[in-house]
Order: sequence, then structure tokens, then C-alpha cells
Amino acid sequence: MKILGIESSCDETGVALVEARMPAAGAAAESVPAPRLLGEALHTQMAMHADYGGVVPELASRDHVRRVLPLTHQVLAQAGCGVEDIDVVAYTRGPGLAGALLVGAGVAVALAAALDKPALGIHHLEGHLLSPFLGDETPQFPFVALLVSGGHTQLMLVEGVGQYTLLGETIDDAAGEAFDKSAKLMGLGYPGGPALARLAQQGNDKAFALPRPLMHSPNLDFSFAGLKTAVMTQHRKLGAAPSETAVADLAASTQAAIVDVLVSKTIKALKATGVKRLVVGGGVGANASLRATLNAGAQKLGVQVHYPPLALCTDNGAMIALAAALRLQHGLADLQHSGAFDVRPRWPLAELKAAT
Ligand code: KG4
Ligand code: ZN
Repeated sequence: MKILGIESSCDETGVALVEARMPAAGAAAESVPAPRLLGEALHTQMAMHADYGGVVPELASRDHVRRVLPLTHQVLAQAGCGVEDIDVVAYTRGPGLAGALLVGAGVAVALAAALDKPALGIHHLEGHLLSPFLGDETPQFPFVALLVSGGHTQLMLVEGVGQYTLLGETIDDAAGEAFDKSAKLMGLGYPGGPALARLAQQGNDKAFALPRPLMHSPNLDFSFAGLKTAVMTQHRKLGAAPSETAVADLAASTQAAIVDVLVSKTIKALKATGVKRLVVGGGVGANASLRATLNAGAQKLGVQVHYPPLALCTDNGAMIALAAALRLQHGLADLQHSGAFDVRPRWPLAELKAAT
């Protein structure tokens, strides 16, 4: 069975084709090999939004319109398939930007209707959670997942396909947003996370005493809005023309504050659940300091850490096609045949029961 996946929840248009074998009637999903990626294409709108210092929703939607069909043709050509070979068209139903989601959903449902095949709406975070199954080393269930991107900061317990428990999440800004907003006020451009991380290598991470919001709270929630304000205050104090060393010190101190909170909560989640595997997803998962600190903490607990390849950490169509494939293999797919659809810009993962 061939599943096309379309991702358009934010500022990346991702399309992919995955092949999945379906288990024989009554057989377990584990009796068939893992789904295989046949083709993948991605367009990131980062450069388009850079001038505005953040994602402009209307521009994002219009760009998805321009990209989605050419990317679909590219993926089919890569896979050596025709449109008629597609058995199911999966798309990101939410959460995300409403207009952006509508583009992917509209195209997916129209394509499915034209082919007389079903469509399947997928939760974006389920895609992230299951993306390690496309890597070389697939983690065993159960695992704890730390999702850290520009839009999400969540700790989740993943016990199987469709079995997700939210352990904690940010109550305001996401970790990537904390990196990006701090970088912006230091004049490092957008998205500034990687630039801030680079500059941090030359700085002293103890130079500024920045807050670690909620680090010692008993729950597993995060908060980064206060940190951004503290960084802004410190940056102002440096004056109109701060020295390079001072900015590098502030970058290093900011990164250390974010990493400390992320690692401390992740370790707390591992201890609370007793789970021995950790999956890290999302763009911030690329941060070298986060990786080193997490690895050291996890090692002490005898926990194995999985980082999916970077291309699968950030938003992509493959994770949507894969989540659809795994749902189909587990008999958990609520296929749509009617041509009617909706999107869920706000869609708590907790509402995602066994079938979407
Ligand atoms: O997952 P992602 O590509 O997109 C979504 O937000 O969905 O994550 C992007 C975020 C941005 O905030 C970016 O600044 C951050 O990940 N990021 C980093 C690094 N690489 C990407 N933050 C810190 N250090 C990095 N090396
Ligand atoms: Zn995402």
C-alpha cells in the first residue's frame, strides 16, 4: 500500500510517499516490516519570513498553494510512481496555522476524491512522535519523547501507536521561540536559534544569572516567556553598542538557561515514568549543548537516547505519511471517503484517541 503524506501546518511544505505492508487479517502489526520511504520533497519558507522576523500566516498559506503540487510531482517521480499508484492520501489536520493547514487538507482531500481513494487526517505531533520509525535505529515502545521546536515544547509518554500521554508542555513560549526571540533582540536574525548556539560557543555561560522558569516546579510544564524578558533587560543594560564578548556571554547564558530547564524536566519525566528510552524531536534537538547535557543525564539513569536524523526532526511530509501507515497497520485509521474535511488549528494530543 502506498501512502502520500502532505504537511503544511506552518512554514514548511512537505510531501512524501511511503510504502507499507498490511498485516494479514488477525495478525499483529509487528508481523510486517516497518514502512519504507519511497520519495520525499520539502520546501522551507524560512527565507521568505526572515524579513518579518517570524512566520506571516497569510504568506505561509499562499506559498503552500504554490509548492504543494510541484512537490507532489517531484516525490512521485523520485519514487517512480504515478498518481494512480497512491492508495491513501494523508495530510496534517492540525495543530497549526488554520490557513496553512487548509491548503494541505484541501489538496489532499481533492486528490483522494479524484483518485477515488480515501484521505486520512493526521495529528502533526503524532508525526513527530513516530518519526524515529523512519530512521535506521527504531526505538522500542515505551519511550519518553521530548519535542522541542519553534512551535512545540512537550514531554510525552509514548506507549504504542495511538497511545500518547502528555506529561508536560510549555504554558507560554516554545523552547525554539525562546532561542529565536533572544537571538532577534541580540541582532542575530531569524530563525536565530542556530546563530545563537554558534555564538554561545565563544561565551561564558555563567556571565549572566538568568532565570530557569519552573525548573523546580513539581510538574513537567515549561515556561520561557520570563526568560526572554530577562534576556531583553540584560541586553538593554549592555548599551547601544555592546562588545562582541558581552553578546557572546549573553548568548551562552541564554542557551544554558534553556538547556538546564529542558534537561531537568526531561530527567524528571524519565524518573517519574521509569522508562529507559528517550526520543528527542524538533529543530532545537539539533542543539549541541542540549544533546551533550541530555546524553550525560540519560547515561546516569541508564537511558538510551534516540535522535532521529535532522531531516526528520524538523517538519516534513514523511512523518505524516509514516504516522498514517502505522495507523493503518494497527487498524487505527479513520479513513475519510466523503470528500468532506475540517482542520484543527488547536488540537490537544490528549484528544487523539485510538482512532482520529
Ligand atoms: O522543528 P523546527 O524546524 O520547526 C518548527 O518550529 O516546527 O524547529 C525550528 C526551531 C527554531 O526555533 C530554530 O531556531 C530552532 O528550532 N533551532 C535551534 C537549533 N537549530 C534549530 N535552536 C537551538 N540550537 C540549534 N542548533
Ligand atoms: Zn512540528
